[in-house]
Amino acid sequence: MSTLVIVGAQWGDEAKGKIVDVLGSQAKWVVRYSGGNNAGHTVIIGDKTYKFQLLPAGILHQNAISILAGGMAICPKGLIEELDRTLAQADGIGELMISPAAHVVFPYHRKLDELEEGARGDHSIGTTRRGIGPMYTDKVQRIGIRMGDFVQPDIFREKLHRVLDFKNRLMTLLGGEEISFDDLFDEYQAYATRLKPYVRDTESLLARAVKSGDRILFEGAQGTFLDLDHGTYPYVTSSHPTAGGATLGTGVGPRAIQNVLGVCKSYTTRVGEGPFPTELTNEIGDQIRRQGNEFGTVTGRPRRCGWLDLVALRHACQINSMSGLIITRLDVLSGIDELQVCTAYQNRDTMPYSREDWAEVVPSLESLSGWYEDIQGAKVWEDLPSAVQNYVRFIESFTETPAAILSIGPDRSQTIILRPDLIWGS
Ligand code: GDP
Ligand code: IMO
Ligand code: MG
Repeated sequence: MSTLVIVGAQWGDEAKGKIVDVLGSQAKWVVRYSGGNNAGHTVIIGDKTYKFQLLPAGILHQNAISILAGGMAICPKGLIEELDRTLAQADGIGELMISPAAHVVFPYHRKLDELEEGARGDHSIGTTRRGIGPMYTDKVQRIGIRMGDFVQPDIFREKLHRVLDFKNRLMTLLGGEEISFDDLFDEYQAYATRLKPYVRDTESLLARAVKSGDRILFEGAQGTFLDLDHGTYPYVTSSHPTAGGATLGTGVGPRAIQNVLGVCKSYTTRVGEGPFPTELTNEIGDQIRRQGNEFGTVTGRPRRCGWLDLVALRHACQINSMSGLIITRLDVLSGIDELQVCTAYQNRDTMPYSREDWAEVVPSLESLSGWYEDIQGAKVWEDLPSAVQNYVRFIESFTETPAAILSIGPDRSQTIILRPDLIWGS
């Protein structure tokens, strides 16, 4: 077996895109298993910057087959734009396939996302307004339209008729305007025609690939604490970014997953509302945001920044049964004299459960030495200053999880592989 899940270990934006691009060169299949264009995965190669939202970050490898799996939320218009943009930018891309089980995001989902956020008032979630929550609501309510339906005009017409009537009543109730069936159908029918050739029975193809021992890389979006079941509910996304989502979202069973690597920043960021025990609302937080250029890939919002929360990270290791960690953005911490990490939530020995529990968390912080050296040019472990090495060792020891890869800059080349055996197996 040669299967590897790359999962976000925090609140998203951990640099999964860069890592999937780096490891994608070794994979035969790269499979995005959840979420939609609420994700923004940046890949920097030389002077080119790619921002993937729906396409797997492995698409740049022409020998790999990229799959948008059944657990995903696909905005057809966004996907076509992204595909055209990538084709224009790249020297070539790999083959793309879309599962018929993936759900389609329509304009009424985006409109409802906006209206519902407005209606929440002080309790808004700070969503990306890409219609992701309303689309997954339809999936659970069993009125969603899937890619397999979407590309068959008669079925699409009939399903859209039924659902749009209902959505129009809902949107009017929330103060929005109705969407015309004819306009929507005509526009989306053209997208369906364009995307039809990509829709394939990806479940069967992946089952065969597992049997043949092909290298399969599962690309997570978002992060563990944005998971609908395991995150800081209700301040979460509506899908399953955790490693379990890789099996649910693709049809590859749990015993076929070999390794799980969790990507974590060497500090913490969060976009949108919700608990964040180690948040820094002071000059150091601003310094991290400045040095790390911490602004959202999708919405441009400033990311909230804070110290590394090891209690949360240890929990993420457990929830995802992680084989190892990928610690990114170590270079960003350069120039901070004393670093702090959270090693306990005061007066608690269990993870907070509710919004109210999280609000009461007081983090216990431990200090570790910082470093001033520019580490972006390091090639191997031995090139790193001892303060960086100690920081990494502290994380490994606290989480009882080995560091498999370190990232010390955005480029492909700024990657130090410490444990090749934890990637595809020895
Ligand atoms: P993702 O959503 O997890 O794929 O992460 P994003 O792409 O939203 O954000 C990560 C950002 O960090 C991107 O702008 C990357 O180019 C950048 N990046 C990745 N690895 C490193 C690193 O080790 N150091 C620095 N400074 N930037 C990095
Ligand atoms: P990547 O894959 C960071 C956050 C939103 C909001 C919450 C719910 O780039 O790591 P949604 O639009 O999903 O209903 O918003 O989840 N969020 C992300 N934050 N990175 C992401 O993706 C995110 N995707 C969603 O900011 O707080
Ligand atoms: Mg991102």
